[in-house]
Amino acid sequence: MTFSTSSRLFVLVRATGAKRVVEVGTAIGYSALWMALALPPDGRIVTIDPDRERTARARAFWKEAGVSDRIEVRNARALDELPRLDGPFDLAFIDALKPEYEGYLAATLPLLRAGGTVVVDNLLWDGRASGAVAADDASTNAIREFNRKFVKHPSLDATILSVGDGFGIGVKR
Ligand SMILES: C[S@@+](CC[C@H](N)C(=O)[O-])C[C@H]1O[C@@H](n2cnc3c(N)ncnc32)[C@H](O)[C@@H]1O
Repeated sequence: MTFSTSSRLFVLVRATGAKRVVEVGTAIGYSALWMALALPPDGRIVTIDPDRERTARARAFWKEAGVSDRIEVRNARALDELPRLDGPFDLAFIDALKPEYEGYLAATLPLLRAGGTVVVDNLLWDGRASGAVAADDASTNAIREFNRKFVKHPSLDATILSVGDGFGIGVKR
């Protein structure tokens, strides 16, 4: 996640007026921090990551930034945890294991309200998705397949912006 990706997320949260956000892949909390800063005071983020060491670091950054009360961490694998969440969410951000992107999207869509937004990072995959950079590994092939399905998903109006490492945006029908 670069500064540009996080600033895009910040603007998207503001533009959509999102109040409830779900994130797949917390890491050290950079994207969640930017989204939390964009939320209204009563806005909330649920963010999922099984890596407790990373999310402990995230919590420290959020505390320093004064946004801890807006963010709830679930230390679990997203494919296990997403079905346990209560929707509706206004915005979902997917940024974890590439071979699981299709599963994350399938588990996230029922949680998203109609008109809600799903954002997906790394869809250019450093040029590997298009084949501009040769690759034939599991993550690359998963991203290629995900992209094909994402842009013509029957439940979404979706596009992939070729900014940063590729930013998918879909609005639930
Ligand atoms: C690219 S990082 C997320 C970066 C973060 N969204 C940001 O921009 O600051 C991907 C994260 O996905 C987490 N992850 C790995 N397997 C996962 C799973 N099954 N479910 C959810 N998150 C997972 C990793 O621990 C890692 O922290």
